[in-house]
This record gives sequence, C-alpha cells and structure tokens, in this order.
Amino acid sequence: MEDQGGGSSRKFPKLPIPGKRNILITSALPYVNNVPHLGNIIGCVLSADVFARYCRLRGYNALYICGTDEYGTATETKAIEENCTPQQICDKYHVIHKEVYNWFNISFDEFGRTSTPQQTEVCQAIFKKLLENNWLSENTMQQLYCDTCKRFLADRLVEGTCPTPDCNYDSARGDQCEKCGKLLNPTELKDPRCKVCQAAPQIRDTDHLFLELPLLKDRLEEYINKIDLKWGVPVPHEKYKDKVFYVWFDAPIGYISITACHLPDWEKWWKNPENVELYQFMGKDNVPFHTVIFPSTLLGTGENWTLMKSISVTEYLNYEAGKFSKSKGVGVFGNDAKDTNIPAEVWRYYLLTNRPEVSDTLFTWVDLQAKLNTELLNNLGNFINRVLSFIAKPPGVGI
Ligand code: MF3
Ligand code: ZN
Repeated sequence: MEDQGGGSSRKFPKLPIPGKRNILITSALPYVNNVPHLGNIIGCVLSADVFARYCRLRGYNALYICGTDEYGTATETKAIEENCTPQQICDKYHVIHKEVYNWFNISFDEFGRTSTPQQTEVCQAIFKKLLENNWLSENTMQQLYCDTCKRFLADRLVEGTCPTPDCNYDSARGDQCEKCGKLLNPTELKDPRCKVCQAAPQIRDTDHLFLELPLLKDRLEEYINKIDLKWGVPVPHEKYKDKVFYVWFDAPIGYISITACHLPDWEKWWKNPENVELYQFMGKDNVPFHTVIFPSTLLGTGENWTLMKSISVTEYLNYEAGKFSKSKGVGVFGNDAKDTNIPAEVWRYYLLTNRPEVSDTLFTWVDLQAKLNTELLNNLGNFINRVLSFIAKPPGVGI
C-alpha cells in the first residue's frame, strides 16, 4: 500500500497551508495499560485512518495525531499487578500499541504518548490560564488514606466488607461489590483494607481544584471524587504541589502535546481556527469529555484555540455473544488478528463494513469468513480477474 503519512513526516513536519483545506484529525488516545482489541481499533484509530486517507487523496493538507493515554489510576493499578513502575508499564505497552497499529497500516503522522515534557508544559500552561481567569474552584472532600503507603487510595485500591446487610461479602471493591453488584463509595466499606499493603486506611479530608462546569457538575464530581494520584502531570500551584491532574483533564491535552512533539510550530495547527478544521474520532463513552470538558478547558483560557468542527463517534463492537473485555481476556486483540495470518487489508475491510455506526454490532468468526469469501473473493476478486483477463485478451484480438 502507498505510504500515506507516518514515515517521512519527521523530516518534513506538516504546517497548515494558507488558502488550502487544513484538516487536523485526532483519534481518541487509547489507554496504555492493555493490548488494544478490535473494538478499540474500529472505534477510533481505523475510522480516523480512513478519513485521513480520504483527505490526503482529495489533496487536503491533513495531519493525523494519536498516541497512548498514559496517566491515571488504570496505569497505576496495572503497575501494581505486574509488579513494576507505571513508567515501565507505559514503556512496555506503548510499544505493543505501536506495533499493532503499524500492522493494521494506520497512517498516523505522529503516534506519541502523554508522559512527555511537552505534555507537562502544555497542560500546566492551560491550567495556569484557567486559574488566572477564575475558572477553577476549591472543594474539600473525604477520601481513604493509607498511612503505610503514604497516599490516598483510588476506589479500586480499597477492599472491605460490603455494607449491604444481606450480602456482607468480605472482598468488596471500593467502587462496587462484585457479589451483590451494589455500587459503592469506598468510605462506605466496613473494615476497609489497602489492596497494596492490607493496612486499614483512614478517612481524611483532602482539597481538590475543580473546573466550573455547572452543567456537568454532578457527573464530573462523581468521577473526580474518586481520584487521587501520583502518576500524572503535577499541578503547578503551591497548595496542590503534591497532586497531579485528573486524567481526563490531561488526556485530551495529549492531542496538542503530541502535535508539539511532531513539530515545534504546533500552535499553527492548534491556535489557528480560521485556517484549520478539527475532526475527532472516538467511541461513545468518550463524548462528554470531548464535547463539554475539553472545549470548556480551552475556552476558559481565553486564547484562540482550534475547536472541534466535526465529531465521529461509534457504538461498541461486541464479540460473538458478549462484550470484548480486556480484563477477562475475551475477544480478538490486535496481536491475535496478526497471528491469524489473514492479511491486515481483510481485517480493515471487515471492520469497516461492520462499523458500529447506528447501534452496537457483533464480531463473529463465521461472519468474517462469509464476508471474506463472498464479498472480497467472489465479488471483488472476480471483478478484478475479469477486468485483467479482458485487458490481457481484448475482444478484437480474438478469444
Ligand atoms: N484513554 C481514553 C479511552 O481509552 C481516551 C482518551 S481520549 C483523550 O477511553 F482525548 F482524552 F485523550
Ligand atoms: Zn497501603
């Protein structure tokens, strides 16, 4: 396949060209803590890839940016599980993601990561503007603190007895009891324990900074209350110097900082709404973050940011009868697709025809086989074969 991006871009970083259509394309930055599965691939990177290829074929000046989302509890939890540091988890899985997308021929201009100095710089600069412009408020809340580990515990890092009287399951997680299904607040657990060291955590008051989003207030607080992290971009504020940003604040800034890793003049793409059109691709669970929180963050700086022009969202791709699940290992993952020896083009075709656009769709092996045999082999293969034989032996020459 023709090289439509990636490779050569480092030598010639692309700038917006005045008078041309300049299209900035982002695919949601996949969490780094796992191997991507087919649902993730069709959900954003492959969909955005097709659009990027279309734009380039039309002669538009397109820049396609993606990379791994590396901060947050998901990474920290995985690091504890694999007994290594968050940095080691990120280094290991970033390479795995890169290899999978490479195999699928995804034509990124830059596939970066969020744990870079550029991310810290852009993220902190945006935060300082929001603070200056009074878009942040302070609030105190209660969280469980482990004295041995010297940290506030994310919900999933606490275990204890379920508070539901007829359940009493003794290994309920801080966010949910897996036995009776009840959603929990970690402070409700009876006899809570730190999952790392088993010590009993204490309830402590802790102050956080909030972005004022009256419309999303309830939802945003529910998410943010759960979080207290060390693995992230440090908050550049005297009082909060021991805290890091909530992952959904820093992650979308990754689009910007990854562009900054691609070219020093990143502002020509990101602070140039007159000349640049921003198209963003993602799965449905990502929508509020891209349509409310991220634009509000950028608007709050009072600067002239390039805001999203168009959003392309997919529903979920399910596997056989159920859901793809990274944690349960159910489904087809990027490396499994490769190991089938079925060419990447066949996978790309199948996933795109089965793209979950108006409802969730189903991946089944039987359907993959049927589409390959009827549509690609019979229809397309036959068509090409006939055209080629026709050219080789034109009618006038005698058959
Ligand atoms: N990592 C998130 C996910 O996999 C997506 C982050 S998109 C970003 O659902 F914009 F925040 F980077
Ligand atoms: Zn502990």
